[in-house]
Order: sequence, then C-alpha cells, then structure tokens
Amino acid sequence: MVTGAGGLVGSALVATGEVKGLSHSALDICKTDDFERALDVHQPAFVINAAALANVDRADGVPDLAAAVNGHAPTALALVAARHGVRFVHLSTDYVLDGPQHHDLSESMTPNPKSTYARSKLMGECGVLDAGGVVVRLQWVYQPNGGGFFNHALAMMARGERIRLVTDQIGCPSPASLVAKALLVIAKNQGTGIFHLATGGEATAFEWIEAGALAAGIPLLADAAKRADFDGAHRPARSVLNCDRLATDFGLRLPHWRTALQTVMPDGDAGW
Ligand SMILES: NC(=O)c1ccc[n+]([C@@H]2O[C@H](COP(=O)([O-])OP(=O)(O)OC[C@H]3O[C@@H](n4cnc5c(N)ncnc54)[C@H](OP(=O)(O)O)[C@@H]3O)[C@@H](O)[C@H]2O)c1
Repeated sequence: MVTGAGGLVGSALVATGEVKGLSHSALDICKTDDFERALDVHQPAFVINAAALANVDRADGVPDLAAAVNGHAPTALALVAARHGVRFVHLSTDYVLDGPQHHDLSESMTPNPKSTYARSKLMGECGVLDAGGVVVRLQWVYQPNGGGFFNHALAMMARGERIRLVTDQIGCPSPASLVAKALLVIAKNQGTGIFHLATGGEATAFEWIEAGALAAGIPLLADAAKRADFDGAHRPARSVLNCDRLATDFGLRLPHWRTALQTVMPDGDAGW
C-alpha cells in the first residue's frame, strides 16, 4: 500500500502495478484512524509512505503544517503499522544531512537540517525509526513528463525561452521509475534503519538539465547562475548520497545518473 499515490514518487510506485495506491483525497495521513481502517481493508504486506509536504520553499511559510505532515503523521502511522505487524517504509531526503560537502553522505552521519522542510523531515525520520520502521532517503527525483523542475526547464527551452541554471548546487538526479523499483525491493525484504537511494556520479543542476535537453533534442537555452541569485529556502550546496548500504544489503545499485537519464527519456518527440 502506498500513501501520497498522486505524487511524483507515489505515482511511479503505482505505475509498477504492484501496489495499492491511496492518493491524498483517498487518505489524509494526518488521520491515523483512517490509516488504520485502510490497513484493515487492504491488508497490505507493507506500506510505503510517499505522502509529504515536499515543497521546500512552501514549507517555510507553513511550519506547523510541515511538522504535522512530515513529522507527526509518519510517526503515528509507523506506530499503527508496527501494531499491525506491517512493514513501514518512509521516504525522506538528503536535506536532513546538509554536508560536509567534501564527503559523500552516509546513513550514519549526524543530521544537520537547515530549513523548515529538512527539520520536519528529520522529525518524521526519528519517529519512524523509533517505531521500528525503515527510512529511505532520496534526492533530486524526477520523471520525464512527470512535472517538477526538470520538465518545467525542458518545456521552457522547447518554447524558446531562456532559463538560468545553477552551477554551484550538486546532487544525483534520480528517475522516479528507477527509485520506485528499488523501493519495492526494500519494502519486500527485511532490514531496518536508514537507507540511501540515488543514482551514481554527481551533477550540477546545469549539467543535469543540459543532459536532459540533449537527450530530448531541445536546444540548450540556458545561462549559468549561482544559487545565491535565487530566493527561497536553504538547499545544500553539494549533497551526494553514499548508497553502499543498499548494495551490501540488497544487491541494489542504481546506474550513473547519465545512464539512468538515457534509460527513462521517451523516444521521439515527447511534446515538451
Ligand atoms: N522529489 C524529490 O526530488 C525528493 C527528493 C528527496 C526526498 N523526497 C521525498 O520523497 C517523498 C515523495 O516526494 P514527491 O517528490 O513524490 O512529492 P510530491 O510529488 O509533492 O508528492 C507528495 C504527495 O503527498 C500528498 N500529500 C500531501 N499532504 C498529504 C497528506 N496530509 N495526506 C496524504 N497525502 C498528502 C500530496 O498531495 P497534494 O498534492 O494534494 O498535497 C502529493 O500527492 C517525500 O517524502 C519527499 O520528502 C523527494
């Protein structure tokens, strides 16, 4: 069973055809009783909580809601799932770590959240782990034609509009469809604690969109910019998840981000 099934990761999980997806309108994760009823109705072997207030900038304006959805609700759901003997897999973010920049970030590093969003996500992590659930940290998730920054950038350039892309923010762009398949492996197996899940290598936002434009046959109408040129919530400068634990425990390693991007880009004219 997947909560937040209408979102980017949730819909990729539903697209695998292996899960029962409950969108926001079908289940508000802040309503613990409704979640318990859903467990009774669907009798899932596992739950993946893909519901979140995931808009980093929006969270700054609604800290109480961010804490409720990203912190308190996952904690309560994990406790209910544990009582029912159902494995609970909760999605989190590299933003809870935020450095040091010269290292790839391992699961054992001390968290260092620097935004409302990151603090609320860390709250959820702690509650879920205390309840015996599993936390999977993701980063830079996208899906061609799936909305979000990646598609917005390509669509603007396809319309002939120039965009600005930062060269001082580094991560691992990870397609939702590959993330979803890996999440199912984690959900169907044993093992608790924290797992990092991302593609290999590292990219600046500029390099990522440049590669996407090349693969889509769209001219690169982009100027290099710095993160400081933009407003909005704090984001880590270099955030590269070390995913060795996933390889060791589950034999899972996502490809290099450039290979992954080629794998998921649609053939032919995608109508950007
Ligand atoms: N996308 C990324 O790059 C990224 C990176 C790192 C970590 N993550 C983590 O991955 C998870 C999934 O993110 P995503 O990118 O798929 O986000 P998303 O596209 O915004 O999806 C989140 C979904 O949760 C729903 N939701 C919000 N509040 C809810 C509530 N109270 N009850 C039930 N559903 C609710 C949203 O519905 P509404 O639209 O109706 O609000 C939305 O459908 C999150 O935990 C996020 O922190 C994502």
